[in-house]
Amino acid sequence: MPRTVLVTGGNRGIGLAIAQRFAKQGDRVAVTHRGSDVPAGLYGVRCDITDPAQVDAAFDQIEAELGPVEVLVANAGITADTLLLRMSEEQFSSVLETNLAGSWRCAKRAAKKMLRARWGRMIFISSVAGLSGNPGQTNYAASKAGLVGLARSITRELGSRNITANVVAPGMIETDMTAELPQARRDQLLGEIPGGRFAQVDEVAAAVGFLASDEAGYITGAVLPVDGGLGMGH
Ligand SMILES: NC(=O)c1ccc[n+]([C@@H]2O[C@H](COP(=O)([O-])OP(=O)(O)OC[C@H]3O[C@@H](n4cnc5c(N)ncnc54)[C@H](OP(=O)(O)O)[C@@H]3O)[C@@H](O)[C@H]2O)c1
Repeated sequence: MPRTVLVTGGNRGIGLAIAQRFAKQGDRVAVTHRGSDVPAGLYGVRCDITDPAQVDAAFDQIEAELGPVEVLVANAGITADTLLLRMSEEQFSSVLETNLAGSWRCAKRAAKKMLRARWGRMIFISSVAGLSGNPGQTNYAASKAGLVGLARSITRELGSRNITANVVAPGMIETDMTAELPQARRDQLLGEIPGGRFAQVDEVAAAVGFLASDEAGYITGAVLPVDGGLGMGH
C-alpha cells in the first residue's frame, strides 16, 4: 500500500537516497529543502527544522497535498566539529537544535496524525558517533545519542498504537559530510572499519526502507547500525 513519507533533508545525501527508495516503491514522498532544487519525483517543502512555525507549515502543506505523514524519516543534520575546549556555545547549541530538537519537533507534529490513524513509522538517523563518541564531536555525538532516548521514549508512549520509533546509526558514508574529512582522518577510519570501506548512501536507505515496512511492525525502540562493524559493542 503506498504511504505518505516525509524525509527531512531529503534533497541531498543520505536523505535523498532514502527519499528515492520510497518513491521507487510507489510511495508519495515529501522532502524538506532550504531553497535548493528538489529532484524530480519528490514533493519539496521549504522548511528549516529549527523553526517550529516552518515545521508546522510544512506538515500542513504535505497533509493538504499528499495526505497525513505516515512514515517520518528524521534525517536532517549538521556538524560543527571542534575539540571541547574550543567549542563555542553557538557550535554546541546549533547542532543540538538541528539534530535533536528539530527531530523531536517533527516527531511531535507527525505523531498527531499517526495517533489518529493508529499507524506510523518514525525513523531517526543517528550516527555511530552517538553510541561510541568521537573526539571533536561532543555536540554532534550528544545530539545523536539523544535521538536514541527520544525514539525509545516515543516507543514507550506510542507503541501500543501501532507506531514504531527506531534509530538507524550509520558509520562512514560517502556524502558531502564525509567529503570534508581530511585524507589522514579518512585513512585512519578505514583502518578501524572491519568492513574495510565507507558505505554508499543506498545501504543506509535499505535499512530505513526495512524499518518502515509492514514486515518490521514488531521492531521498535531498536538501534540498527549500518557501519561495517565500526561501532560494534556500543
Ligand atoms: N555522511 C555520513 O557518513 C553520516 C554518518 C552518520 C550519520 N549521518 C547522518 O545522516 C544524516 C544525513 O547526512 P548526510 O551525510 O546526507 O548530510 P549532508 O549531505 O550534509 O545533508 C544534510 C541534509 O540536512 C539538511 N539540513 C541541515 N540542517 C537543516 C535544517 N536546519 N533544516 C532542514 N534541513 C536541514 C540539509 O539541507 P540543505 O541542503 O538545505 O543544507 C541536507 O539536506 C545526518 O543526520 C547525519 O548526521 C551521516
